[in-house]
This record gives sequence, C-alpha cells and structure tokens, in this order.
Amino acid sequence: MRQIATNTGSSTEVKARIEMMRPATLESTPALHNLPSNGRDSVVTPQSPIRKRVRQAQHPDLDDIESLVELWAELGANLPRAREELIRELPSFAVAEQHSRVTGCASLYSYDPQLAEIRSLGINPNHQGQGQGKAIVEYLLEQAEQLHIKKVFVLTRVPTFFQKLGFQITSRSLLPQKIMKDCERCPRQYHCDEVALELSFQP
Ligand SMILES: CC(C)(COP(=O)(O)OP(=O)(O)OC[C@H]1O[C@@H](n2cnc3c(N)ncnc32)[C@H](O)[C@@H]1OP(=O)(O)O)[C@@H](O)C(=O)NCCC(=O)NCCS
Repeated sequence: MRQIATNTGSSTEVKARIEMMRPATLESTPALHNLPSNGRDSVVTPQSPIRKRVRQAQHPDLDDIESLVELWAELGANLPRAREELIRELPSFAVAEQHSRVTGCASLYSYDPQLAEIRSLGINPNHQGQGQGKAIVEYLLEQAEQLHIKKVFVLTRVPTFFQKLGFQITSRSLLPQKIMKDCERCPRQYHCDEVALELSFQP
C-alpha cells in the first residue's frame, strides 16, 4: 500500500518534510558528480527496474512533489513553484518511486506544439546516484516524442548530466518563450549561471 503523507501542505508541514529530506551537508548537493552507485542499474532501459518505477504523477503525490520542488528551490537548483502552480501542472509531472514513496520528480512543460521544457527535476538527496534522474528524464523524453514535440530544452547547472542523455548546449536567446515566462521573474536573471541545452527529435 502507498504511504502517502496525510498533511495538508501548510508551510510548517512542508518545512518539516523538507528537513527530513535535507542532506547532512550542503556540500553534498547539488553538484553530485561522484555519486555512489549502490543499487544503480548500469543502463536505464525501459525494461529496467528503476525505469519501471517512474510513472505519471497522481494527486496524492502533490505533497511529496511540493517538498522536492521546495527543497531544490531553496538550495538554488530549481525555480520555486507555488502550490497552485503545481496543482495546475500536476498532469505534466512524472515521479520516481521506491518502496511506495516518491523519491524524484520532474515535469514536461509545453510551450507550444513544437517546444517543451523539462523542469522541476529533483531527486531526494538520499536517493541520488541510483539512476532515478536519468530514468525520469528518459520517461519524459519518450512522452515528448509520442506527443510529436520537436524540441525539448532545459536550463540547468548540471549540463553534464543532460549531455549524457543526448542534450546539446544551445543559446538561451533561442528560447524566447522561456525567457518571457520564467526568466523575467527570476532573481538571478541578470547574473544567470544556468546552461541552456536542447534535444531535437528527428522528423
Ligand atoms: C542532477 C540530478 C537530477 C541527477 O539525478 P540522479 O538520479 O542523482 O542521477 P543518475 O543516477 O540518474 O545519473 C545519471 C548519470 O548522470 C551523472 N550525473 C548525475 N548527477 C550529475 C551531476 N550533478 N553532474 C554531472 N553528472 C551527473 C551520473 O554520474 C550518471 O552518469 P553515468 O550514466 O555515466 O554513470 C539529481 O542529482 C538532483 O536532483 N540534483 C539536484 C537538483 C538539480 O540539480 N536538478 C536539475 C535541475 S535542471
């Protein structure tokens, strides 16, 4: 049976959940290059166990998704998202789960029929380095391809992670929709250190 947190998402409760996820030291995140490979599949294929634990988000996942998004926003890896925004965009989220607990999430946000962004990608610090980030991104890429989206992009401080998944570095100025939507309300818009990457599907 799923173990779903029964809280209502008040800010105190969200903070308590974030504290439970928080890694012992900030130094261990978010640039986790030398991760332990415990329990990790060597190749994440659609048939591999880790990939099978990625699924579309459901409403009971909302609190766990909110905690992950807040944690990584607080640590500067992702943009913060209001709960209302997460509720609205829940259908675009995929989650990874382990032992019936949500351990990672990301969403595929469509700007138009041609272009989508992978965003709010975050893995619970206790579960990093197990292939879950890769499995979620591959799941969302499969979805994008099925939807005939031509290009998927990401803005990130971990470009190597995405390059390993086939993304190529691009210029942020080629992503005007993103700049209009998110960058203009970002506190770091004039000193952004994120790298833009894109993956185009063959016609
Ligand atoms: C970055 C992140 C999503 C990676 O997920 P993960 O489950 O820990 O990574 P995986 O185990 O799936 O790693 C897949 C591959 O990427 C590499 N990788 C993982 N994290 C990396 C990082 N920070 N930098 C470079 N490479 C990384 C792994 O070594 C592995 O390489 P391999 O296939 O050659 O062995 C995760 O660590 C995270 O949540 N980080 C904090 C939030 C964040 O930065 N999100 C991205 C915002 S765009």
